[in-house]
Amino acid sequence: MTDQYAVIGNPITQSKSPLIHSMFAQACRQDLEYTRIEGHDFAVDVDAFRARGGRGLHITAPFKLAAFAYATEHSERAKLAGAVNAMRFDGEHVVAENFDGVGLVRDVVHNLSCPLKGKRVLVMGAGGAARGALLPFLAESPALLVIANRHLDKAQELAHIANSQPGSSVLVKSATYAELEGQAFDIVFNATSASLKAELPPVSAGVFAHCALAYELAYGKGLTPFLRLANNAGVKKLADGVGMLAEQAAEAFDWWRGMRPDTAAVIAKITVPLV
Ligand code: ATR
Repeated sequence: MTDQYAVIGNPITQSKSPLIHSMFAQACRQDLEYTRIEGHDFAVDVDAFRARGGRGLHITAPFKLAAFAYATEHSERAKLAGAVNAMRFDGEHVVAENFDGVGLVRDVVHNLSCPLKGKRVLVMGAGGAARGALLPFLAESPALLVIANRHLDKAQELAHIANSQPGSSVLVKSATYAELEGQAFDIVFNATSASLKAELPPVSAGVFAHCALAYELAYGKGLTPFLRLANNAGVKKLADGVGMLAEQAAEAFDWWRGMRPDTAAVIAKITVPLV
């Protein structure tokens, strides 16, 4: 019987995951079917999918927290993120993972050839997206990681979590946007949800003074206000989250199927030009 996988969310018609995974399955000669589930009652919907023989799920908004509660085992990354973007079903066991952060780092370091090691890194936003990237960022040993947020307490909480990680020597600081005045960074990430509303976080162009890469975690929105600001400030390399999407999908595929597909063809297929 063909193995069943799916992505669950609401709304879900926009999801690129079925396309991505059908391309991976074809390239890796894996017999699997990957569909969309419009979720309503998460536990009921997932129970039904498992009863139909479902092997694994991707989870998208608004169910990443519900998935955390549903799972019986959580990876360290999922625990730290407090959110789940992939699940694997092994009999009664429901194993939860979060590949968003590793996917992001893989895109930056491998696809975009921008190592984080020794760099001054700015992350704007302290919500779920920033939280998910925290451990994978620390693993790359940047010289400095600054988390900026409108509500400083959320950035402080993430900085505190990061600074409490055993074995990490990365200096992690929190800041308001006003406090970034006069500071410049090598790599700047927009992990806020501002671009989904075509808004710009209140950051000044000075943060890009020595910037080699401006990365927008949202994808498919073209030149967002953040990327436009970076472009006008002379940042040479601009990227959106399309590579992150493909890389987190490849991590999940590997976790489910035991082989990591190449992402280049998928990235080429789903990229929306920035300009
Ligand atoms: P996600 O899961 O996408 O990270 P989230 O957890 O709701 O979503 O977090 C949204 C993040 O975007 C928050 O850091 C939020 O900042 P506040 O905590 O200060 O509200 C940030 N955000 C949203 N709109 C923003 C805007 N226009 N400017 C700056 N930050 C914004």
